Amino acid sequence: MNIQFSEQKLSEVNELISHYPDGKQKSALIPLLHIAQQEFGGWLDVPVMDYVAEILHILPIEVYEVATFYSMFNTKPVGTYVFEVCRTGPCMLNGSDQIIEYIKEKLSIKEGETTADGLFTLKPAECLGACGYAPMMQLGKHYREHLTKEKVDKIIDECRKNTAALNN
Ligand code: FES
Repeated sequence: MNIQFSEQKLSEVNELISHYPDGKQKSALIPLLHIAQQEFGGWLDVPVMDYVAEILHILPIEVYEVATFYSMFNTKPVGTYVFEVCRTGPCMLNGSDQIIEYIKEKLSIKEGETTADGLFTLKPAECLGACGYAPMMQLGKHYREHLTKEKVDKIIDECRKNTAALNN
């Protein structure tokens, strides 16, 4: 894969970096990693992180330590749809374990794995700040709340339909 932002993306990146004072460009790291993850297949491979380090004039290790710390960054390939199911206290007390087990069974994957068709990844997460809607998961930019097995079935169907529509 050619690890380089398009002209248009690069100007967006430079715009972003310009919001920070000279010498403080490292502050743009997290938003830049989000852009990089979106642009380069949904995950941050080492060459992608190195590219980000180069753009920000910082050491690659400074990028690795941030990318591996935050759960919203993927440091290995993921599916088109990443189910980040919260498993912290309030979600656990409201059945997140059963939801996780159900997803594992339904998609024949373990935690951290991706389905063979490359569509779904199951990624248990810690509290996502929506405890009042437990059990919940993050799917892309959206939260899916008060999960039940039926809701999970519906979400999986929706994802499959979206993909089919995009491929037609
Ligand atoms: Fe699940 Fe807070 S415990 S969102």
